[in-house]
Amino acid sequence: MMTDRHFYEPAQGHGLPHDPLNAIIGPRPIGWISTRAANGVLNLAPYSFFNAFNYTPPLIGFSSIGRKDSLRNIEATGEFVWNLATRPLAEAMNASCAAAPPEVDEFQLAGLTPGASRIVGAPRVEESPVSFECRRTQIIRLQSAAGVDTDTWLVLGEVVGVHIAQSMLRDGIYDTAGSQTILRGGGPADYFEITPDALFRMRRPAYP
Ligand SMILES: Cc1cc2nc3c(=O)[nH]c(=O)nc-3n(C[C@H](O)[C@H](O)[C@H](O)COP(=O)(O)O)c2cc1C
Repeated sequence: MMTDRHFYEPAQGHGLPHDPLNAIIGPRPIGWISTRAANGVLNLAPYSFFNAFNYTPPLIGFSSIGRKDSLRNIEATGEFVWNLATRPLAEAMNASCAAAPPEVDEFQLAGLTPGASRIVGAPRVEESPVSFECRRTQIIRLQSAAGVDTDTWLVLGEVVGVHIAQSMLRDGIYDTAGSQTILRGGGPADYFEITPDALFRMRRPAYP
């Protein structure tokens, strides 16, 4: 029966050429996560199952689908750094997602410079205009509605240090519209870039 809605139960398949989930929940901000392994090897990888979850203390998190190097390093050291991915850094961000073995430093792979952090041992991406130094708060193995463990881990951390390039501040206010932040869309290759014309303003209604 044709209706004006395509309905599906994900457990039974989506019935479309591509799974639309990522295209619908998108564009998503990118958690470009740098870590240092217990043996000192640096690691860098993008995660678009990423967001901020609290103001005070500031908490951010990303989902590792499978036990990846970033997750293992954060389990071992309790620390990570989030870096802002911008249009000039898009290709380097993409290069850093290579499924390289743990002994490979993705900073070298992507031609990026590890910058010293102030509080944590994990490095910043020096070329990125914004970095958050983070301490792990919780690592939660995700479950299905039936309580079955998935192979996905939600990694949450408290932001304990914030680096912002002065060029990102206009009269002291962070300039999202001018940031050239990139976001992940759906499909194998879609990204979006924040541009000033994408901005609109709306205040919350007063109540009553
Ligand atoms: C834009 C982008 C977003 C990604 N988002 C995720 C994600 O949310 N979760 C995930 O597990 N992998 C994600 N990946 C794939 C990882 O970056 C990739 O598996 C990487 O090799 C993991 O690196 P690591 O083992 O050094 O942590 C993404 C890749 C790209 C390019």
